[in-house]
Order: sequence, then structure tokens, then C-alpha cells
Amino acid sequence: MKIDKLNFKHNLFLAPMAGVTDFAFRSLAREMGADFSYTEMVSAKGLVFNQLKTNKKLLDKNLNTCFNCDNSNDLCKNNDILDNCQNFSLLNSCFDEENSSLEKNLTEYEKMLYTSKLENPVAVQIFGSDAEFMEKAVKLQQLQKFDIIDINMGCPAPKIVKNGDGSALLKDLKKAVDVANAVVKSTTKPVTVKMRLGFGADENKSVELGRMLQDVGVSAVCIHGRTREQFYSGKVNFEAIATLKSKLNIPVIGNGDVFDDASYFDMLKTGVDAVMVGRGALGKPWIFNQLLHFKKLCKNKNNENKQLNTHYDELDNILINKNLDKQKDDVCYDNSNLINKIDITSSFKKEIIKKHISMLQKVYSEKFIVTHMRKHLLWYVKEMPDATKYRLQLCKINSVKEALILLDQIFI
Ligand SMILES: Cc1cc2nc3c(=O)[nH]c(=O)nc-3n(C[C@H](O)[C@H](O)[C@H](O)COP(=O)(O)O)c2cc1C
Repeated sequence: MKIDKLNFKHNLFLAPMAGVTDFAFRSLAREMGADFSYTEMVSAKGLVFNQLKTNKKLLDKNLNTCFNCDNSNDLCKNNDILDNCQNFSLLNSCFDEENSSLEKNLTEYEKMLYTSKLENPVAVQIFGSDAEFMEKAVKLQQLQKFDIIDINMGCPAPKIVKNGDGSALLKDLKKAVDVANAVVKSTTKPVTVKMRLGFGADENKSVELGRMLQDVGVSAVCIHGRTREQFYSGKVNFEAIATLKSKLNIPVIGNGDVFDDASYFDMLKTGVDAVMVGRGALGKPWIFNQLLHFKKLCKNKNNENKQLNTHYDELDNILINKNLDKQKDDVCYDNSNLINKIDITSSFKKEIIKKHISMLQKVYSEKFIVTHMRKHLLWYVKEMPDATKYRLQLCKINSVKEALILLDQIFI
């Protein structure tokens, strides 16, 4: 699949997951077969105000309201934000409060936007419903290292929706398209949109919105086959995903409920150009290698496995090698070492988890890593026979050292 000049070979993406897909986790997923990854969603307003914070000239100590604390000052919304924002001093203290738990030198936003060399290419995902802020955000220097700007139109979280952001944009398609249009016009980078089918429980506005986004120059859309009201309940609507794919000319990335070979196969059958995996990667970033290996087996006609042979015939029409039409100056990203199946042994898992931790140590404080890794560690042991016992131990860790000792005991 190609998104503008970016060529993807495996067409298998890691989903953005706030509070989960840190740069280390994303890098591990990339090493093991994911073609593409995203930062977690970052507020466009937050980015713009953070930029203000670093610009001391704009500091006005006399004002006493903070945009990020909901006591927003209309001046900031209505005037040229970078020139006129006056509610800066309290904003400053809010960010300081946020940063107080972080010991290393990077700011909160630098941490969120941190990427490793293994993530090439990589997207930043921004959210917001104010076209002006979105426009300003994409022009910020901090975002220039990213290859794609992805707009979040799918987040169902009440605190996001109540501000009109994320999936709330699905209630007002014109606004959604205005936001996308503003971003497309403000950057030379490809702009993609990640969305759900619609807002209300049974709504499906994906084709209507997809076409409108395509018309304003959005380069690809990712569709999570659920509505906002569904959150994560019910089953993903593969049929709706297939319909969207059939109606758009731009690439469509299918997302939702891909946890194993069978569900990956179901998603491939919709005909989408790429598949995005979220929760299926929790505790197993190696799932990408497994899925790729499955696809490779399906594509091998002389397979001894009868079921895979049936898959081959079905997939034959679906898996078109779109790299064939790549142009000279296109970059094709290919981690060829991923083709071989990884043997997911206990010691391999331990090595991966330790690598996850050691990469985080380069950027984050011990305090952050311990809290953050507790979640990951619980996922890493989830499918083990003694998971309950291990989870009880792991959720109590107070230092990286304790985590490493436990890992040596668990993964023998
Ligand atoms: C903990 C968590 C955090 C998420 N954060 C984001 C996010 O920051 N941006 C986004 O577009 N989607 C986010 N999502 C949604 C996922 O990207 C994905 O669309 C959803 O989980 C469905 O895919 P899955 O069934 O493969 O998990 C999040 C999902 C989870 C479970």
C-alpha cells in the first residue's frame, strides 16, 4: 500500500493507544513486523500552548486563567493565538505540575512526541475540533519530524467528546471536514484520519465522511468498525469496513478486533489496504510477526496445510502487491528480517520485556516507568498458566530492579 510517496510492504500497522503505545513498545512492534506506528493522540491546543510556554516573550504574568484547566479565556480562542494569548502564567504552572513527576530533561510534550530510529516512517496523531488550533499545531517545529499527520476522529472518551473532539466530530461532518481541510492546507505532509463508523449506536456515516475527506485531500482513512456509542462492545462491523473500502479511492486501513490469524483473515477479506492492530498487541508486540507469517503461509499455494490452501485462493484476489507501481523516488520500507517466524519462547519474551524497560529508561524517570510498566507487565503475563499469581506480584513493583528480579523468576 502507498500513502502518497510512502510505501508499505506488509500493510500491518500498530494502532495508537494512549497511555500504552510508548515509543519503546512501538519500536518493538516495528522490529517484529509492524510497518507503521503512531504517537498516542496529542491535543492540538495543548501543543500550541506548550509552544507558548517555551516562548518567554509571550509571557504575561498578570492573568490568572488557564486554558488547559477548562477556565478558558476567550481571547485565546478568538485572536491570533501565538501573538495574543495572555493566560500564560497559570498555564505554565499547570504544566509544571504535570511535569513534576518526571525527572528527565524532556518536557511532557517532548516525551509524548518522542520516537526512536526504529520507527521510520512514523505518524503523529493530533486531536482537536478547532481548525485554527489544528492548523497552528501542524506548523509547529516539533511535528516536522513526522511523516504523516493523523487526525483523531474516533476517540470515544467522555472528556474528549465533551469538548467536541475525537468521535464528537462524527456528529458534525462539516466541522470534521473543515478541520481536515485546514490541516491538509497547512502541511505538505500526507494527512490521514482515524475514525469510527459514526457517533450514535447504529449510525454509519463512514462512506459519506470518507468521501468528503477524500475530496479535501486526505491521503488515507483508518476505520474502526464500531460507532462511538458502542465504545468497545459488540463485534466489529467487517461489512461496513468492506463497503467503505469499495467506495473510496484513497487507501483504507481496517481496524478492530484483530487478535489472531482468524480475525486478521476476516479483516483482510474486507479488501482493506492495510490492517491496524491495537489491543491484540497488548502484551505481545510479536503478534505482528505471527500475523505476517500467517499471511505468508496463506500466500504460499503449495502449502501442506489444507485450511491455509483454501485461504490462499481467497486471499489471492485480495493481497495485491501494490509495491509494483512504486515510483522511482518512492521509499519502500521493508524490514526483511521479519519474514522468518520468531520462536516465541519464554526467554524470548523475557528479552523483549527487558528491552522494553531499558529503552524506556533512556527517556523516562524510574517513577514513570514503574507505574507505566505495571500495566504492560500484567499484559505480558496474561496468557501464562500462573497469570493470576504473577499479576498479583507484578502490580506491586516499586522499582525497575524489582521488576527485573520478578521477570527472571517468571520467565525461566
Ligand atoms: C487503551 C487504549 C487507548 C487508545 N488510544 C487511542 C488513541 O490515542 N488514538 C486513537 O486513535 N485510538 C486510540 N485507541 C483506539 C485504538 O487505536 C483502536 O482503534 C481500537 O482499540 C480498536 O482496535 P483493536 O480492536 O485492534 O484494539 C485506544 C484504544 C485503547 C484500548
